[in-house]
Amino acid sequence: MLQVFQMAQSSTNKNLVFQRCIASDCGQTFDIGEALVACKACGQLLDVAYAWDHLPVPNSLREFERQWSHRNHPLAFSGVWRFRQLLPFAAEEDIVSVGEGQTLLRASDPVAKYVGLRAGHVFLQYEGMNPSGSFKDNGMTAAFTHARAIGAKRAACASTGNTSASLALYSGASRLMQAVIFIGSGKISFGKLSQALDYGALTVQIAGDFDDAMQRVQEVCAQLGIYLVNSVNPFRLEGQKAIMFRVLESLKWEVPDWIVVPGGNLGNSSAFGKAFGELHTLGLIDRIPRLAIINASGANTLYELVERRGLTWNGGRPDRSIIDKYYGELDVAGRRASTIASAIEINRPVNLIKCLRALDICHGVVRQVSDQEILDAKAQVGQGGFGCEPASAASVAGTRLLCEEGLIDRDARVVCILTGHQLKDPTATVAYHTTDKTEFERILGARGVDTASYANHAIAVDNNLDAIIRAIDRHSQGER
Ligand code: F0G
Repeated sequence: MLQVFQMAQSSTNKNLVFQRCIASDCGQTFDIGEALVACKACGQLLDVAYAWDHLPVPNSLREFERQWSHRNHPLAFSGVWRFRQLLPFAAEEDIVSVGEGQTLLRASDPVAKYVGLRAGHVFLQYEGMNPSGSFKDNGMTAAFTHARAIGAKRAACASTGNTSASLALYSGASRLMQAVIFIGSGKISFGKLSQALDYGALTVQIAGDFDDAMQRVQEVCAQLGIYLVNSVNPFRLEGQKAIMFRVLESLKWEVPDWIVVPGGNLGNSSAFGKAFGELHTLGLIDRIPRLAIINASGANTLYELVERRGLTWNGGRPDRSIIDKYYGELDVAGRRASTIASAIEINRPVNLIKCLRALDICHGVVRQVSDQEILDAKAQVGQGGFGCEPASAASVAGTRLLCEEGLIDRDARVVCILTGHQLKDPTATVAYHTTDKTEFERILGARGVDTASYANHAIAVDNNLDAIIRAIDRHSQGER
């Protein structure tokens, strides 16, 4: 299998993989040797596209199980590259892997109960188990691989924290490129910032928010010829398809009814749509799951545009005037994204159009949930012993909402993507569980979170053995 893969990448077969504009009235193609983040003809987003008929594709997803017996080979070990036949854009010798994708999918009955579904029907996909603690590593290994193949020396991103942590990690671990990261001021959790600093990334803090940083990084990369690894980079999203491959693998290749994912810059949802579209076209799955994308209500552009203003993919010709009008309104009102789920605090998602395609492919829906709902859902996940960061819990809060609405029916099998590790943002978690009202007010009150419904308060006790034992006894009796 490895040999076949290499053949597919030989220079004679180079034209089997290309970049293609997603706009149906453009569709311009470009060589994969170019570093592009938009179509040179019309400015729309690009896909990595494959001439599948001429590439070695397995007959069944089960064939990937053969990779398990080669786990001592780094590419078979990687939870992204063991599926490399489904993202065959790179020569093996160019692949940069740090062992990403060793994730878990676990059924959670307490969470099933919380959202109103049957035991054994809710699955949590723990992407926080990746090397940098979030799903971003799935995409970063792919973007880094492409960057290396085309000889890039510096790579940059704007980030709410996880993309930058991931870029910094790949840069530090591989020593192949210098990482330059752009963050908004006061908009990044310490867990994530600490990673970027510790792993040695050049960290540029913009006086602005993520949307500002995203615009600037694109300008800077264009001017300085730096390789951009944000999710406008089509190669990054190729790696993120692997999250869905692993979900299917963990479900013994059975397609669930729903995939529920938080929506920020909309790279993940776009990648999931592409993954399922391709698997279906290749005959590797017989049906496509429905996709639910969950916005925080303080950063709800997708929800507003799709569910309230009727924006659709429309066969690759979405009505841009709906988007322009809404962004104009945001500007006039001076409205900025604001949510405790800082990872998804984004008002101008760069993958908006691609995400519309994913919603179309997966018969998807969009919902918004409040910070309160996010933190309550996060506490439920946390009690299961693995936990997640606030943004991730939007998927559980959104599932609960969709069950209440009756859109997800009680027998459905639902996979919630937990995008980031619990330790990424301890501030929000501790504020939620604290008994210190001042601290709670300072961090959560300002966000409209009133009481912590599922708080696990620490018990304050004198430094006295009897008092400690009495306190533990009292607490244990209360538990019984
Ligand atoms: N969950 C977490 C933990 C994230 O870090 C992000 C995005 C998302 C969800 C949203 O995913 O952008 O694909 O819709 N974080 C980016 C960053 C923006 O810079 O780390 P998306």
